[in-house]
Amino acid sequence: MTYPIERIRSDFPILAQEVNGKSLVYLDSAASAQKPNAVIDAQSDFYRQGYAAVHRGIHTLSAEATSRMEDVRAQAARFINAASVDEIVFVKGTTEGINLVANSYGRHFLQPGDNLIITEMEHHSNIVPWQMLAAEKQLDIRVIPLLPDGTLDESALPGLIDQRTRLLAVTQVSNVLGTVNPLDRLIATARAANLVVLVDGAQGIMHQQVDVQALDCDFYVFSGHKIYGPSGIGILYGKKQLLDQMPPWEGGGSMIRTVSLSEGTTFLEPPWRFEAGSPNTAGMIGLGAALSYVEELGIDRIHRYEQGLMHYAQEALLQVPDLVVYGPADRAGVIAFNLGKHHAYDVGSFLDQYGIAIRTGHHCAMPLMDYYQVPSMCRASLALYTTREDIDRLVAGLLRVKHLLG
Ligand SMILES: Cc1ncc(COP(=O)(O)O)c(C=O)c1O
Repeated sequence: MTYPIERIRSDFPILAQEVNGKSLVYLDSAASAQKPNAVIDAQSDFYRQGYAAVHRGIHTLSAEATSRMEDVRAQAARFINAASVDEIVFVKGTTEGINLVANSYGRHFLQPGDNLIITEMEHHSNIVPWQMLAAEKQLDIRVIPLLPDGTLDESALPGLIDQRTRLLAVTQVSNVLGTVNPLDRLIATARAANLVVLVDGAQGIMHQQVDVQALDCDFYVFSGHKIYGPSGIGILYGKKQLLDQMPPWEGGGSMIRTVSLSEGTTFLEPPWRFEAGSPNTAGMIGLGAALSYVEELGIDRIHRYEQGLMHYAQEALLQVPDLVVYGPADRAGVIAFNLGKHHAYDVGSFLDQYGIAIRTGHHCAMPLMDYYQVPSMCRASLALYTTREDIDRLVAGLLRVKHLLG
């Protein structure tokens, strides 16, 4: 069956827009993906017809909103094949999910002198929370180094592990290089040493099937806005036996069983223990619609389409003189590059004038910029609605920029 690209594009109203007088070429989906009508409508219908505070009400609207929220939790559990719906915690996004694990699991279970392992390609959100924890708890952070081709030096991992190593936190896919990390092997090594494993799925969830039970990770985190859902909502998956042992991070309403001024507070079980305050219910409804959209199209089909497009893009970019592409040939979602000596901001600004939206800067991965000794990179990213024409426009734009800037 052919991939219904025309129908898909018509589902995303923003793609029909002009920017700077040119039809929009949106190649910044790795930063945040555009939203289909199904997501936009689900949210606005909820606000129009179904909105009420969840959990605390017995009135009909409140009960219905609560059950819709819990339906999305169950849907997210199925989407990543979690063993139980109780393993799905609603968070604001990947960043908050990692901070939750660092502040709850990390603070409670890691002791001064322990160490944890991250990689040289992590997004700042999978570095900074661990650095903050390390400073507070006197932990050591060890780093799996990058190889020049943009893959991890897997062989370094066993040598980084010792008696005091407690945790491995690794991204599924690099947001800069597109490297798809060998999670099966990394997790097997970590498991053999009894490490707890957190996978940052922010750049993985929208490109390939995720099965947290097959991966055998302890935590998996992703953001709704990168999988065509709303911003401000995401999922933290945690294995039940770990979540059960973890103390709450944030305190407040909706996460307590009893509160007494004299006796203190008792907490709900997970996942509610980790969901203090009034949640982003409309975001959850939108996330449910986004997951349904992806499920209806089929994640394997999306994967095959995007892989074909990626090969096309890699070939097409060879036409641009002086273009340096970073990362391995085998990649998912993103292509980072620099055009000769020109600063990424200049290149990105010119492309914007032609209606082409790419990302420029350090991509929240300063250690990776240090590794390649560049201040910034340009990054084009692909999504389920990207076309070959988009790639052709990018190549034509880059050729024009090269011609202008020399
Ligand atoms: C690999 C990776 N991790 C984490 C994040 C942070 O996601 P969010 O800003 O949605 O919390 C991103 C966002 O770009 C990312 O690409």
